[in-house]
Amino acid sequence: MKVAKSPDGGVYPVGSVIQLVPTEVMVKQPKGFNEITHDWEFFELNVSKDGTSINKRGFAEVVNRFGGNCFGCHLKAETKWDFVCETSHGCDPIPLTEPMLKALQHTDPRCPGSDTVSAEDALSLKQLRELLQPKAPTDHKSG
Ligand code: HEC
Repeated sequence: MKVAKSPDGGVYPVGSVIQLVPTEVMVKQPKGFNEITHDWEFFELNVSKDGTSINKRGFAEVVNRFGGNCFGCHLKAETKWDFVCETSHGCDPIPLTEPMLKALQHTDPRCPGSDTVSAEDALSLKQLRELLQPKAPTDHKSG
């Protein structure tokens, strides 16, 4: 993609679909959809062997399964990057390492072969689970 490769950034074309982890996607909608997010729509997906369903979609209000507001993080990207974070655009870093991201991509349940997990990926996924543990929602039993 031209904008993605440009050192000066730019505005992504309408219809751009970008994804880092299998469950989080940004789609550039036609101009005028949402002024605040510059027409980016944020999606949180459920992915399984049977395919994909949309868990949440929307603009500035979409929160991921870890309680993070998509736009809340992405708006920190410098203006010229059109709310795309990557690793150097000014967003607060996410706690996922490169191997964890790779492991998530390799184990996307929609892809053939995703149920055979390499030892390396298995380790990264284990570390990821440990990382997410303290922040996972707990069942508060009231009473
Ligand atoms: C805690 C802050 C944070 C939250 C919450 C967050 N993101 Fe991101 N997102 C980032 C960062 C930082 C990157 C770049 C990570 C990298 O490249 O290593 C990123 C990367 C992405 C990318 C790849 C393109 C890019 O910007 O680099 C997409 C697509 C994306 N996020 C979508 C979403 C969606 C959809 C949600 C909500 C369901 C979401 N994100 C929630 C911080 C966040």
